[in-house]
Amino acid sequence: MTKVVAIAGSPSHPSRSYAVLEEAQKILQSLGAELKILLVRDLPAEELLHARFDSAAISAATTQVTAADAVIISTPVYKAAYTGILKAFLDLLPQKALVGKPILPIATGGTLAHLLAIDYALNPVLGVLGAAHILQGVYLVDSQFQRLDEGGIDFHDPDLEARFRSALTELTHAISSKVPTAV
Ligand SMILES: Cc1cc2nc3c(=O)[nH]c(=O)nc-3n(C[C@H](O)[C@H](O)[C@H](O)COP(=O)(O)O)c2cc1C
Repeated sequence: MTKVVAIAGSPSHPSRSYAVLEEAQKILQSLGAELKILLVRDLPAEELLHARFDSAAISAATTQVTAADAVIISTPVYKAAYTGILKAFLDLLPQKALVGKPILPIATGGTLAHLLAIDYALNPVLGVLGAAHILQGVYLVDSQFQRLDEGGIDFHDPDLEARFRSALTELTHAISSKVPTAV
């Protein structure tokens, strides 16, 4: 089965950007792909903030990412960009960790004003990590969906739901058509 890893970048839990990943998990399962969610907030804070590359917990998490067929990054928008803890984790990934992997960036935000945070803030970092195939990101405004206590989300906006499903379908197509790349 195709293995997709999602990096959940919110310091909060339960969280909206995490619930979006739970929804993605259900959709990807129906498309024949398994999604494992890696919560950055669950990593040991001191090891993360002190950039301990030799930490066993950090190393297990980075290996999960490098071993995946594709990666989803989901972050809330904080101050017009991604969160600090997400950046702390991305900083600890090997330099070319994302080479050869299709990447789907997702962001949730309180307003549409920071729609371009994916393009201007997150994508350049993913590029430095070797991502050559970054799919069109999905930006979800809080008012467009509801987080469900039982997991996942309810969309209030059918167009957004369609875009979300089609982004995940595109991700699975990108995985099946990718040419193996040496890291
Ligand atoms: C510290 C902080 C900063 C935020 N900054 C922004 C922002 O600049 N732009 C925006 O649209 N939303 C901003 N928000 C709102 C969150 O991005 C939004 O509610 C998001 O869906 C929360 O996701 P989470 O529940 O996964 O943490 C901010 C929220 C917090 C707590």
